[in-house]
Amino acid sequence: MKYRQLGKWGVRLSVLGLGSYLTIGYKVNEETSRQLVRTAYEHGVNFFDTANAYNLGKAEEVLGRCLSEFPRSSLFVITKVWGRMGDGPNDRGLSAKHIKEQCEASLRRLQMDYIDLYMCHRPDPDTPLEETIRAMEDLARQGKIIYWGVSEWPAWMMVKANHIARDLGARPIAVNEPRYNLLWRYPEKEVFPVTLSEGIGNVTFSPLAHGLLTGKYKPGEPPPPNSRAADPDQNMVLKELYWTEENKRKGQELVSIAAKLGTTAATLSIAWAMRHPAVTSVILGARTVTQLEENLKAVDLEIPPEILTKLEELYPVPQSPVGL
Ligand SMILES: NC(=O)c1ccc[n+]([C@@H]2O[C@H](COP(=O)([O-])OP(=O)(O)OC[C@H]3O[C@@H](n4cnc5c(N)ncnc54)[C@H](OP(=O)(O)O)[C@@H]3O)[C@@H](O)[C@H]2O)c1
Repeated sequence: MKYRQLGKWGVRLSVLGLGSYLTIGYKVNEETSRQLVRTAYEHGVNFFDTANAYNLGKAEEVLGRCLSEFPRSSLFVITKVWGRMGDGPNDRGLSAKHIKEQCEASLRRLQMDYIDLYMCHRPDPDTPLEETIRAMEDLARQGKIIYWGVSEWPAWMMVKANHIARDLGARPIAVNEPRYNLLWRYPEKEVFPVTLSEGIGNVTFSPLAHGLLTGKYKPGEPPPPNSRAADPDQNMVLKELYWTEENKRKGQELVSIAAKLGTTAATLSIAWAMRHPAVTSVILGARTVTQLEENLKAVDLEIPPEILTKLEELYPVPQSPVGL
């Protein structure tokens, strides 16, 4: 495994992390979840990503049990707040009240006495940034969290939040968690340059575009059984963002490019995401240990310049600065 410094901050994360969205505590049973976590840990992964909203706390509960066999000091755990957790008017968002309550609930579910990095899962336009930043600072001073961060916030909002944090004498943002893959290169336009200049690390998600970049979805064919695309409980984002015949066709080209390097489209796509200097760590999603082992091979894959050029031609940076 290789480790990188988290932006300008003092902590080092494995260049590949393990995520838990739709897998651990949901579609993957506890025994396989434990095998996934053990496999990742044994390969040197020290960074695990979850969220309160992943299956309404179940992902945190199962991940917490799986991680309990390892020394706490050897782990860096991210969990998140913002998603709806109940029917009440305050059971969502980034108010100080919801942040405090959800942080305590996440600690209970994870069976941990601190969270390494507590993340605002999305922006909350109904709460002033000052309120959210103070709430994060309070949790840090109480020893419940160490760092705080954001996911899918626009670049201008991160800069504004850091100005406010400095004015308040509070901690600025340590990490950003954007969607980033060959089919979603928008962070290269604004988010990566701004986070590099602010000293914010990036831990990126969906490196395989929900599996489309593995090449397993073929043009004109139905998705294979057991795949994310075949399951209506899981395929909403995949269908909304990536599901075109053109993208499936490009996936087949990617398989051929990877084969020339003696690797797979999945391993190549993950190594490609890791190559960007703004990226601290790429968060892997895996449903099986076999998938995880294939994905972990990205650590040792050096992509030659001529292959990078081919990927650049197949998956150019989009014209527009933001994706949605
Ligand atoms: N901050 C956020 O808002 C946010 C959003 C999304 C995700 N995340 C984090 O990022 C992590 C990764 O995101 P993601 O799950 O979207 O990642 P992804 O790598 O784009 O997709 C993972 C899925 O692709 C399939 N897959 C993975 N490796 C494969 C392989 N080698 N061969 C064939 N299929 C393979 C599996 O699904 P099937 O086998 O079922 O097809 C797997 O569950 C999540 O677990 C979560 O922790 C964060």
